[in-house]
Amino acid sequence: MLNTTKIQTILTSDPKKAAKFIKSGGLAAFPTETVYGLGVDVFNRAAIEKVFIAKGRPGDNPLIVHVANRDDIGLIAVEIPPSAQKFIEKFYPGPLTVVLRKRSEISDLVTAGLDTVGVRMPLNRLAQEFLRGCGTPVAAPSANLSGRPSPTTWQAVYEDLNGRIDCILQGEATDIGLESTVVDCAGITPVVLRQGAVSLEQLQEVVPETQSYVPDSSEISRSPGMKHRHYSPSAKVVLVNDAKDVLAAEDSAFIGLSKPENARAFRLVKICADAAGYAHELYEFFRECDRRGLKTIYCELPDNAGLGVALLDRLRRAAE
Ligand code: TXA
Ligand code: MG
Repeated sequence: MLNTTKIQTILTSDPKKAAKFIKSGGLAAFPTETVYGLGVDVFNRAAIEKVFIAKGRPGDNPLIVHVANRDDIGLIAVEIPPSAQKFIEKFYPGPLTVVLRKRSEISDLVTAGLDTVGVRMPLNRLAQEFLRGCGTPVAAPSANLSGRPSPTTWQAVYEDLNGRIDCILQGEATDIGLESTVVDCAGITPVVLRQGAVSLEQLQEVVPETQSYVPDSSEISRSPGMKHRHYSPSAKVVLVNDAKDVLAAEDSAFIGLSKPENARAFRLVKICADAAGYAHELYEFFRECDRRGLKTIYCELPDNAGLGVALLDRLRRAAE
């Protein structure tokens, strides 16, 4: 599946130049405040097929559609229910994806056959300039090879997708470092399908009925992408409650909020100041461990509060 003919990947820091590739049916990666995305014109079916091939992504994993402004949501969704309207007013632009009932113009390829579509308006300045330049809503999964950690730098995008996509818009390392919160507003009460920088508590302040998704085996998955192996490095990820309890195995690394006792026994150590710093560093740390061929990554568990909730979710998935 990964055997595509090599194409030339143009690197640029000019959002208008990157946007031209989208207009002509190409694939362009771009920075956002969460992770880098791999963009494509949402109305170009042939181009959307290319995204799945470039990433090696399973067809049952839906794409998020990115808009430059709130008015463009009407091009994608049939209606904006009151709960979604409140979230959009409060959290757009930002790291929140709202799931709405899709318009028939949005192809099944984008939504993986669902009758809903995820919509997000990024806050990152380059992302906004890029999206305005595209002149169309842009479907964009994270710009990594399927199964690898999401890219938080343009170099990580290059590492995975050079020769497979048309362009990389070079920006800074992403601010947050974890994917957006996904909240499904197509049902009676909003349900958080993926944790991110916008917390359940923040959503509940706006719509108190908002719930967290509890998987039910009798129901088909509401967030299909979440069942796929995600966020994981090749090295084995081991979760630890306390840095003091870790004994370094051969060729191992440590990341967390406090210093392990025998820090020098690890090949690579990263101590983060707080949960936000940890989230910012995590995926790049995973990638660096893989570049060095390390075998085990010990990850200290953060407190289950604020951004720590999303961080815990990603750490647990990486350790599965
Ligand atoms: O922060 C982000 O969301 C980044 C940046 C690029 O915007 N994008 C991202 O896309 O993480 P991706 O493709 O890696 O993850 C998309 C996930 C899907 O796996 C699924 O869990 C959820 O978003 N999703 C998308 N559309 C959905 C829908 N209609 N219903 C339920 N979940 C959906
Ligand atoms: Mg992804």
